[in-house]
Amino acid sequence: MFIKNNWYAVEFGHEVAAGPVLARIHGHDLVLWRSTDGAVHAQSDLCVHRGGSLAGGTVEGDCVQCPYHGWRYDADGACVRIPANRSGVPIPKKARIDAYPCVERYGFVWVFLGDLPPAERPPLPELDGLEEHTDTKAAGYRPVYGDFTWNANYDRVLENAVDIAHTPFVHSGSFGNADEPEIQDFDLEEQRSDGHLVSVRATVDLKPPRPSGLWKFVSKKDRPLVTTTTGFYPPNVSMLIVRLPMGEIRIFTAAVPRDEETTVSKFCMLRTFFTGGWADKNSIQRTIKIFTEDRASVEGQRPELLPFDLSAELHVKSDSIQLAYRRWRQEQLERGWGLESLSQDETRRAVAVIPSPQRAAEPEFAKAWVFPTVEEALAERAPGEVRA
Ligand code: FES
Ligand SMILES: [Fe+2]
Repeated sequence: MFIKNNWYAVEFGHEVAAGPVLARIHGHDLVLWRSTDGAVHAQSDLCVHRGGSLAGGTVEGDCVQCPYHGWRYDADGACVRIPANRSGVPIPKKARIDAYPCVERYGFVWVFLGDLPPAERPPLPELDGLEEHTDTKAAGYRPVYGDFTWNANYDRVLENAVDIAHTPFVHSGSFGNADEPEIQDFDLEEQRSDGHLVSVRATVDLKPPRPSGLWKFVSKKDRPLVTTTTGFYPPNVSMLIVRLPMGEIRIFTAAVPRDEETTVSKFCMLRTFFTGGWADKNSIQRTIKIFTEDRASVEGQRPELLPFDLSAELHVKSDSIQLAYRRWRQEQLERGWGLESLSQDETRRAVAVIPSPQRAAEPEFAKAWVFPTVEEALAERAPGEVRA
């Protein structure tokens, strides 16, 4: 189940430096590209001519060009050039692809995947302290970026990122303290804007394990408590702030759902100590190590998909951030924003897209779409037909 009508962090801005880039989101291929004014655009990757992948094409000025027969689409998704047509032949109205609202901020490319008009959209998440440190490179924080791929559903991956109680067990080889598994009571801080949940966080003091490696030489002997803040910004970004004696680490991670079973975590890790470039590699490796420690637990969870029923698993007090995520998800489903997936068999024969705002905003285009939306494709299923 995919939740539409939200702003997803789907890629790093620096990955869309030149040329079109493919971003697969829950089985739907998007093409990301940059126009001459530097703006990033996100569109359905499927050329309506013969289903060519636009990400394999080129950017030509302010258009993306399909590699197969050279059709060109502008930033609004309208085809503006069909090279094989004789001059003067008008371009059909149907020659258009879905274009999604797209913003570059905090080093990430955010795409609004849904069809709501601007006033009704949940706001773009505000990632605490990230803009000033990555966009303006203000003194103090040094950012590094990296990816990690999981054979797991993105709800499970995101919940793991905000799970406090697993640390002493799963991370006893790094920052978890196996001797101190108890989690003190914490308050959940929930922020809402226009009726939408925009952030959830909690702060706890954790007792650190004995330091090792490079850290050993800069840590004091009496180990003070490590004040740690963790939480998430719906729909797909988690956050971790760790206040160590020598400085602070902030990790913002976008859990990008490739499909129901595959998730790519794209992280930006900032640090206030060892801010020279020489420590970048070590910082990336440390973050990857944490994910690697998590891998077996997250990929081993059953059911693989998060249950819809809040009582389907047993929750205790220390699980309250994950519960907040499940409540948010439930809220989205109640708004009717859940998008079911088509089966592999169905998508081999026919494609369906996540609806873009233009579909709802411009009724005169109602019949001008070559590919149906996921909802339309699902409605076409024979009654009683089930997923393969
Ligand atoms: S498939 Fe894209 S131009 Fe023909
Ligand atoms: Fe973990």
